[in-house]
Amino acid sequence: MTRVLIVANRLPVTVRAVDGGVEVQPSTGGLATGLLRPHEQSGGLWIGWSGASEELTDDQQAALTSQLDGLRLVNIPLTPTQVSRYYEGFANGVLWPLFHYLLGELPLHVRDWDAYVEVNERFAEVVAEHYRPGDRIWVHDYQLLLLPDLLRQRLPEARIGFFLHIPFPSEELFRTLPAREALLRGMLGADLVGFHTPGYLRHFASSLTQLLGLTVDVDRVQLSSRDVRLGVFPMGVDAENFETLAEDPAVRAETEALKGDGSVRLMVGVDRLDYTKGIPRRLLSYEKMLQDHPDLRERVRLVQVAVPSRTGVEAYQEFRLLVDGLVGRINGEFGTAHWVPVHYIFRGLSDTELVSLYRAADVMVVTPLRDGMNLVAKEFLAARTDGDGVLVLSEFAGASWELPEALQVNPYDVDGTAETFHRALSMSEEERRARLQPLRTRVREFDVHRWTAAFLEQLEQRDPRALTSAATPAPLDEQAARTALTRRLDATAELLVFLDYDGTLVPYAPTPDLARPDPGLLELLGALARRRETAVHVVSGRTREALEKWLGALPLALHAEHGFWTRARPGADWVAAADKVGSWREPVLAILRDVAARTPGSLVEIKSAALAWHYRMAEPETGARRANELRLHLAQLLSNQPVEILSGNKVVEMRPHGINKGRIFPSLSPERLATTAVLAMGDDQTDEDLFAAMPPDAISIRVGPGPTRAGYRIDGVKAARAILESLLERPRVTPTEAPPRGRSSAAPAGPLPPVRR
Ligand code: UDP
Ligand code: G6P
Repeated sequence: MTRVLIVANRLPVTVRAVDGGVEVQPSTGGLATGLLRPHEQSGGLWIGWSGASEELTDDQQAALTSQLDGLRLVNIPLTPTQVSRYYEGFANGVLWPLFHYLLGELPLHVRDWDAYVEVNERFAEVVAEHYRPGDRIWVHDYQLLLLPDLLRQRLPEARIGFFLHIPFPSEELFRTLPAREALLRGMLGADLVGFHTPGYLRHFASSLTQLLGLTVDVDRVQLSSRDVRLGVFPMGVDAENFETLAEDPAVRAETEALKGDGSVRLMVGVDRLDYTKGIPRRLLSYEKMLQDHPDLRERVRLVQVAVPSRTGVEAYQEFRLLVDGLVGRINGEFGTAHWVPVHYIFRGLSDTELVSLYRAADVMVVTPLRDGMNLVAKEFLAARTDGDGVLVLSEFAGASWELPEALQVNPYDVDGTAETFHRALSMSEEERRARLQPLRTRVREFDVHRWTAAFLEQLEQRDPRALTSAATPAPLDEQAARTALTRRLDATAELLVFLDYDGTLVPYAPTPDLARPDPGLLELLGALARRRETAVHVVSGRTREALEKWLGALPLALHAEHGFWTRARPGADWVAAADKVGSWREPVLAILRDVAARTPGSLVEIKSAALAWHYRMAEPETGARRANELRLHLAQLLSNQPVEILSGNKVVEMRPHGINKGRIFPSLSPERLATTAVLAMGDDQTDEDLFAAMPPDAISIRVGPGPTRAGYRIDGVKAARAILESLLERPRVTPTEAPPRGRSSAAPAGPLPPVRR
């Protein structure tokens, strides 16, 4: 059975040292409560921190280890300094408020990044120690954003998933983090990155585009050697367990006790004491309702459970005082000898107490200022097997998009929320039931087990769009490419070179016209073409006119429009690969012109066979989004046409079927091939056709990132030119050694053998 290693900062149990041993309690928080059941039902491990901040004695440690072993939990102890700097300092002092849009809670000076890195590295070591080939690793939440990549470095073959339990903030906010790029790269170590809502995924994708310059193709990010998939997986709860608990006799008895004779309506809030949960504004709304509707006094009460959380963080200490003060104020203002308006509980509850409250509530108030999902809302719904009760839900909880039948509020609108509270209390039974029923059905259907299965199934799947097994994820290594080339040159007599132009010989320019060759390049290509026994082909997506104008005078073979046009040598005619290009051009051209008009900074290039839409100068996110839309639109429109749609580097191109760079490779006899060194260099998807057509001994080099079937990868244009220069330093064949069928060094690159059709 495949083991799943759950890796989360917190274990599902929290440990405290007590006299002569340790006390083990269930942990609070959606991640720990939610994942507990899936963990219990799997054969895997859960690796994380036990919550103990003090040093344990040997006896305590032994007692702890034996308890944890039985539960398949692996403890990663943290030192007091790590707790204060990694956990309280960076994870909960910086990432938590920022990801929840609460900038006021941020420290002025962010200092604890190094501790965050250190603990993520520690986690990576421990996970790697426990990993067995075939295991699936599932990393959770904002405390471990660097971990997927740290694991990828240690375990390149491992299947790694990552799930973020809190919101991913808008890119504008995320970019305020000094370590923003490192955090994104950390997450991209995973094969699959999951979020609760489409909005969080969109923000993440936008950060990848804006900060790392990566193109996100709907739900997929292409890295140099692999793809990362993105997905939306709204987390559920163990609905069945809450239903069973709801029927428990102890819960029934407690529910009846809480309801009393029914003369006082019950509103319930259950949260960790966290400033994201909106407790102060909720209290203000409650207060406002009591002010505006005096008839409700002594007829309603609010039970607010606030589970102590992160008490070492200063913002949480201050926040506690604020809540204490507000509760005191409301109780002092409205309370009577018979009635306490707010019943405030500052401790964790048992399952029985919790479910009894869910069952007794007339109105459940879940009004966070921002919340990744909020499982309390779903637990309340699951527990209401009686089909009654009203859920008031913040529109800023991740759960809100799945639960539209709830009464949704903007928690920042204190007056509006007060009115909604009143409306909830006044709602007819018929409406309460009509709203609750579809909510309950959804929560039961999409429970935590289905959530776990959906994520792990997707993690299991190979992306059908990934390159075939012929593709090798070539690592960046210029030296290896040079060594292989030298070896091949030493073993052969002739040299055939195939070079892409843009992105390989010259860097990309803002518009295609500006990428003209510099004198250094012209000199290099000229010298190379004049090298003994060498033929140089430049194969580009550009028009014949452009290539002729820039490179026409050199003794090169030129191939324009991805090989649709070929010119064998200077002065020779350009020869087309086909007579007709098809009737698809007119409608496609109209679409491209329309997209260009709507996307500032983009332009249409009209070639004799192909059409291209370039968006290098467009605002990156808009450009990428339009490119996605355009590809989808054209794919439908051209499904029966002999046209290919290509995604190049900031360009979408349509060209006749069968015309690709691979077709320009000449047909050579096996004997000739054996004595010919072949070098091909290119930087984008269109060059993959060229690499695919190369003979097995060819040296194919991908210039820059992206999945490739090339054998080698180098960094960029500078490295590509350096490789060509190294060829000039090795005039391997002296005139006396020249094989009889060779061409003279003065001859241009030809005559070419016939081009493949
Ligand atoms: N919870 C708990 N003990 C309590 C009160 C609540 O363990 O005394 C649980 C609750 O059942 C829920 C979790 O804490 O599963 C809170 O998860 P939620 O997603 O609502 O918020 P989070 O605390 O994760 O931000
Ligand atoms: C939220 C976070 C979890 C965290 C939980 C409790 O649910 O998403 O990662 O475990 O709060 O917080 P704590 O700091 O006590 O682990």
